[in-house]
Amino acid sequence: MLSGITGGELLRDPAELAVLLRQLRARIKVDFSVKCRAGYDDPRQIFELLPIFADCGVDWLILHPRTVVQCYKGRADHQLTAEVAAACPLPLVVNGDINEVETGLELLEIAGVVGLMLGRGALADPFLFKRLRQRQLDPVSQAERSEQLRGYIGDLLPGYLEQFCGERQALMKLKDLLNFIPDPERQRIFGKMKRAQSLEKFRRLLQDV
Ligand SMILES: Cc1cc2nc3c(=O)[nH]c(=O)nc-3n(C[C@H](O)[C@H](O)[C@H](O)COP(=O)(O)O)c2cc1C
Repeated sequence: MLSGITGGELLRDPAELAVLLRQLRARIKVDFSVKCRAGYDDPRQIFELLPIFADCGVDWLILHPRTVVQCYKGRADHQLTAEVAAACPLPLVVNGDINEVETGLELLEIAGVVGLMLGRGALADPFLFKRLRQRQLDPVSQAERSEQLRGYIGDLLPGYLEQFCGERQALMKLKDLLNFIPDPERQRIFGKMKRAQSLEKFRRLLQDV
């Protein structure tokens, strides 16, 4: 009988985690990946978890090298990623603070690393995937960045209106998104957009990004 704990809390009980993984493995007919932090409160716990993942028939590991208790504090420890890649019997996908092409390309150089997972970096700049694939190290011009942001946020508007409950909630979600875009050049206009009281106002301000 499983206790019902989920997410990072599972790392507090590796025996229960193993039971859950075996049950999932028995039912999953396609590739089975596990995404996890390096440990609950000890970043080196991952080295105890690796044999568990392999024994339970997991196909891929996605590592975010912070601990659960660390939340988002500090930096993702990609020195640890390199150590895990050397010890990991599974193909490893790296996650955590991959916000520039250079960081992503450096991580892909590590033997055993087969891919990248982007979170906040992709919210800030969805074109990061394309630039990584094209190994494009040069930053885009400010004019191009403005055009990309107008297109990206503008394209989200109809989808958010459909997905969320009404204009007010869509506007709130769009404002949330701006918090993930650490763009010093555009903080002033983002500030105005975050204060917009209607989607129409937000849409008009978007033209000045
Ligand atoms: C808005 C948001 C939603 C997230 N939702 C999930 C989720 O549902 N499941 C999950 O495993 N991680 C989730 N994460 C964590 C990310 O997948 C990722 O592990 C973490 O943000 C570190 O990567 P990053 O530095 O590229 O953002 C979420 C992160 C953000 C910012």
